[in-house]
Amino acid sequence: MRDVLFAPSLLSADFLDVRSSIASLKGQHDWLHVDVMDGCFVPNITFGPGFVSALRRQYPAEVLDVHLMIEYPDRLLDAFLDAGPDYLTVHLEADRHIHRTLSRIRERGARAGVSINPGTSEELLRPVLPLVDLVLVMSVNPGFGGQSFIPSALEKTRSLCRWREAGHYSFLVEMDGGISRGNAAQIALGGCDVLVMGSAVFGAQDPALFLQEIKLNV
Ligand code: DX5
Ligand code: ZN
Repeated sequence: MRDVLFAPSLLSADFLDVRSSIASLKGQHDWLHVDVMDGCFVPNITFGPGFVSALRRQYPAEVLDVHLMIEYPDRLLDAFLDAGPDYLTVHLEADRHIHRTLSRIRERGARAGVSINPGTSEELLRPVLPLVDLVLVMSVNPGFGGQSFIPSALEKTRSLCRWREAGHYSFLVEMDGGISRGNAAQIALGGCDVLVMGSAVFGAQDPALFLQEIKLNV
């Protein structure tokens, strides 16, 4: 059994009662994944820095894994860093100066993550691998929960694990999108360290039981 972390995505939580959604996990999760969307990089709008900061205040011990799906993330970087995330992830495709952005996240004391869409080659990540604590591989086109898993993401995970070993890096590999009871074990076996799950967790009758069961399978 691999030591895999589970990060339920609040995108599939009850937006009017996020506290109850988090309570329904009964501590069976490892991280909370927060999907920030700007209506421009992706065709949907969700949370801003104020939401992240409210989560931080309310849940000081939770690991907040903030996934920025926004254009020009450097413009809002300080606002999100001030909000107190543990991991702050930006998209390679959205940032003209990814090297500077990732360095700044670390300078400010957060863990830096970089993400790529399904249509982006993992080769493009190679120059920034020494600068990151997390690589988030998108396994759906970002914007919505409940989409189907795109299998080519598994190839990317394998390349990243190889490069991590060869370069003696220590970043975690996270997979996000379309992960369900049916494919979680295969994704974990493929080398992923963190599995993001939105609709599968919060759509379950009992999210805590679902997580308990899935942990036995990976
Ligand atoms: C998609 C988001 C994901 C999403 C995953 O743009 O980045 O985190 O919540 O949802 P599911 O698990 O339903 O595919
Ligand atoms: Zn996400």
